[in-house]
Amino acid sequence: MKSSIRMLKRPTSFVLASFRPSTLKRSFSEVGSSGGAFPFAKIYSKGERPTRSAVCISSVLHSLRPCWMALLSILWGNFTLSWMCTPSKFCRVNTTSWQPPLSTLLRFAALVLAGLVLAPVVEAADRDKLLSEPGVYGTFAAFRLDTDWAKRDQASRIVQLAVLKGVVEQHREKLAIDVYLLRGLSDYADLLFRVHATELRETQQFFLDLQGTSFGKHLISSTVFSGLTKKANYVPGMPDNLKAELKTPSEPGPRPYVIVIPIRKDADWWSLSQEQRAAMMQEHTEASLPYHKTVKRKLYHATGLDDLDFITYFETSRLEDFQSLILALEKVKEYRHNRRFGHPTLLGTVRSLDEIIEVLAQ
Ligand code: HEM
Repeated sequence: MKSSIRMLKRPTSFVLASFRPSTLKRSFSEVGSSGGAFPFAKIYSKGERPTRSAVCISSVLHSLRPCWMALLSILWGNFTLSWMCTPSKFCRVNTTSWQPPLSTLLRFAALVLAGLVLAPVVEAADRDKLLSEPGVYGTFAAFRLDTDWAKRDQASRIVQLAVLKGVVEQHREKLAIDVYLLRGLSDYADLLFRVHATELRETQQFFLDLQGTSFGKHLISSTVFSGLTKKANYVPGMPDNLKAELKTPSEPGPRPYVIVIPIRKDADWWSLSQEQRAAMMQEHTEASLPYHKTVKRKLYHATGLDDLDFITYFETSRLEDFQSLILALEKVKEYRHNRRFGHPTLLGTVRSLDEIIEVLAQ
């Protein structure tokens, strides 16, 4: 009994060691070192390798479409949860000698075969292109977790989070997906997804698949807005010294904080001539440049796609710089044309999916 309790109290990171990022083209040793994958919450001790069939199954799983992953999770979940929730069984699931019963493997194999027939090989989208080129849609979707989530036991939460990971992995083929933790810094939402796509309907499919999973049923949408990246409108007409300063690279190192501010301009702004707006944007740029090195920014044009005109996205390690930047911008004329600034302002931390999973599993 003592040992069961010890196992149940293992840090989540240990249990989640099996949910490392996946790619279909993993080598045997890579898969072996991460201990297989969803839905086997099986931990391999150092130096130990999974059986060849476990490796095959784990690789094949990563090629399943989200619906198959979800189905699989239900079938597997029904079995695993009832089994894992007995403390002595939960202890066994973490031992190296554990093998699922034959009937489960057969059921599992049938699903894998169906998935193989239906699923194309998953290749990751060109993330760098999606994040740097114009003509890409950026969608920001913030969610709260319902109160039932916290009431679920850890084993059940881990199984559901594995499904979240599966859905994200599957959509990496076409989308660049970033996740942020808002919980603790925002009472507005717990989680934020930023999704980049060349086709907005691909983003929609991702959220449909996500919300269709057992994990997604716990998500309550707080806000969602979309915008489009475009070539700079005013920079080409700015003096050379400003253009050169804008090109200087930002300080290296991690930027753990994220801030997203939706903006709507007033009707007067849009009735100004291009020259008048350009003059004000030059003033905006001059006021902002002192913070250019510590605040990384990205602009999305949202007019017509949302009730907004712009979505502004920032990453920084120095929130005090960000605050000074906003104070500096509030003094320029262009700021007076902001009819909506924030509402909501989303503040959170930049996290990997594994980090988010670990936090939500606690
Ligand atoms: C590091 C700090 C910043 C720098 C260097 C900067 C610079 C610029 C530049 C050069 C443009 C013109 C882009 C173009 O040519 O189309 C621009 C546009 C814009 N910036 Fe900033 N900015 C900064 C921070 C901010 C902040 C904090 C906000 C508001 C929260 C903001 C809101 C906007 C908006 C809404 C536009 C689009 C205006 C329009 O196209 O009409 N910027 N910024």
